[in-house]
Amino acid sequence: MFKPSLPVETSRLVLRPFTLDDLTELHSFYSRPDVARFLYWEPRDLDQVRTVLADKAAVTELTDEGQVLCLAVTLRETGELIGEVLLFWRSREHRQGEIGYVFHPGHHGRGYASEAAREVLRLGFEGLGLHRIVARCDGRNTASTKVMERLGMRREAHFVENEIVKGEWTDEIVYAMLRRDF
Ligand SMILES: CC(C)(COP(=O)(O)OP(=O)(O)OC[C@H]1O[C@@H](n2cnc3c(N)ncnc32)[C@H](O)[C@@H]1OP(=O)(O)O)[C@@H](O)C(=O)NCCC(=O)NCCS
Repeated sequence: MFKPSLPVETSRLVLRPFTLDDLTELHSFYSRPDVARFLYWEPRDLDQVRTVLADKAAVTELTDEGQVLCLAVTLRETGELIGEVLLFWRSREHRQGEIGYVFHPGHHGRGYASEAAREVLRLGFEGLGLHRIVARCDGRNTASTKVMERLGMRREAHFVENEIVKGEWTDEIVYAMLRRDF
């Protein structure tokens, strides 16, 4: 079991559990087509965001593989919710995990996603004791691959048209990092 000590603070950010009060701010970017463009889901309306937010807020610890910890990323100075980071526990036996990140476009281009994702790697390696953490994205999502490279992750795979997403054949890129390289 892994119950992280929250919040996690960086120089500019605070990573904390979601609460139901985050509905409006989460909807402000979950509803945007440009945000959902390379994700598996479509832009979400308020009711859909309410449902996923309840799931996010309910998980503040990881007790078994298959679970995901989702943290709200807020600005230290203002408390504004600017994005989210995710830690998936993929395999207990093989000590494998995965990270993810989604940020409001109004806060792109400032290094916030990389700053927050680095802390999620830390939680995965130092907290959960993972051996290897991956990150995956659509082959066209260069903003996301740049984050993975900024984190020092290794590009391990480029699968060509391995899945159909939103009605079109889509490439998938996989980056990974081992604990000893963190
Ligand atoms: C993927 C995503 C999180 C990347 O966000 P981002 O803001 O580009 O990433 P970072 O926080 O690492 O910021 C890096 C940029 O900030 C710039 N920057 C400015 N100040 C910086 C600082 N203090 N530190 C680091 N970078 C800084 C960098 O130069 C870089 O710019 P560049 O992309 O033009 O080279 C964002 O595009 C997103 O939310 N997309 C929609 C959801 C999505 O696709 N998620 C990924 C699914 S796999």
